[in-house]
Amino acid sequence: MEYDVLVIGAGAAGLMTAIVAGRRGRRVLVLDHANKAGKKILMSGGGRCNFTNTNTTPANFLSANPHFCKSALARYTPWDFIAMVDRHRIAWHEKSPGQLFCDESSKLIVRMLLAEGADAGARVETGVAVHRLRAVDGGFAVETALGAVRAASVVVATGGLSIPSLGATGFGYEIARQFGHTVLPVRAGLVPLTLSGKHQARFEGLSGLSLPVEARAGGASFRDAMLVTHRGLSGPAILQVSSYWEPGVDLHLDLLPGLDAAAALRQGRAERPAAELKTVLAGLLPRRLAERLCEVWLPNRPMRQFRDAELSDMGARLADWPVTASGTEGYRTAEVTLGGVDTDEVSSSTLMSRRQPGLFFVGEVLDVTGHLGGYNFQWAWASGNAAGQAV
Ligand code: FDA
Repeated sequence: MEYDVLVIGAGAAGLMTAIVAGRRGRRVLVLDHANKAGKKILMSGGGRCNFTNTNTTPANFLSANPHFCKSALARYTPWDFIAMVDRHRIAWHEKSPGQLFCDESSKLIVRMLLAEGADAGARVETGVAVHRLRAVDGGFAVETALGAVRAASVVVATGGLSIPSLGATGFGYEIARQFGHTVLPVRAGLVPLTLSGKHQARFEGLSGLSLPVEARAGGASFRDAMLVTHRGLSGPAILQVSSYWEPGVDLHLDLLPGLDAAAALRQGRAERPAAELKTVLAGLLPRRLAERLCEVWLPNRPMRQFRDAELSDMGARLADWPVTASGTEGYRTAEVTLGGVDTDEVSSSTLMSRRQPGLFFVGEVLDVTGHLGGYNFQWAWASGNAAGQAV
């Protein structure tokens, strides 16, 4: 079988590459070992796929080279993807500012991508393993469960390691290494953090509790909801900051974001001098958390017994609460994989390898990882578009 382009991985980035390359008249074959195309798209956004973010900027991405993503993002914007979604009459809504979700189901996005691919003449085959890839004269010889495939270009769109049960493998990293690429260390991102020992015991029984916080680690901060789970901490603020956290990195929470906590406590003392601290705190925080803070960390006394300096100290603590996480829940629940194929060895405009002509890398397999909120799909569409124009 001879093709101009073989795309390995029928996920978000691979399907977009196939659409764009197919529209240019390239003969495209997409192979995926999973039994369905776009499994992560189907799972995403709670089944409604947060397919883009209209506030996308390069600052929403983590990468050893923060400039790498700029060219592809500039040439395929959220509005380009929205135009495709609108052409297919898929209804969508904006949830948090900029975050766009399908009204109905993620299935519509996969259906749209497959329809666009078919329209562009791309062949998509699922349930097909790709075994070996060799560079030969004029391109690549690839051994697959479908038989031998020859292709002038190969696009590695195998994604990251998150959620192995959805088909994630490290195959893309193996191909990269085979052709002399550096693969930067990978770890789970956008993932719940775990607590252990006394740190977990202190949160015992608070599972299910949610509150707005500002979570800070590694120079980044995110103001959003935090959820206490039976294993540790989750919710959007924690998922976001998890991409900046590693064992040894300090994690701090502002438990009363946007509020001058010391002033609020002084006001509580003025209004209810006989009330205990836990009662006043319960007016500012979820009651169960206020009680636990006063059982474990803060002195619970009638408000009138606190001096100004003590309330100031307490306010400062509530605004910069240290948390000792023991780890993350890992790839089993992570939305993304940080790290990956080093972008220094890949062209930012074509996504082609600088080591092996005709070999391309798109999507999450690269060391480009978005924040939570539709940015990762926007990177998949944009990088797929850039490679699709170049293959
Ligand atoms: P993707 O993982 O989509 O596709 C890779 C494909 O390669 C898979 O189909 C896989 O089967 C295939 N493959 C792997 N190894 C192979 C091999 N050896 N041979 C053949 N095929 C192989 N992002 C976002 O922007 N908004 C959201 O709402 C969400 N929600 C979300 C929920 C959950 C539960 C997860 C896990 C992730 C998200 N994400 C997200 C992240 C987003 O899904 C992710 O960043 C993109 O799917 C990455 O697109 P890729 O095409 O690079 O990889």
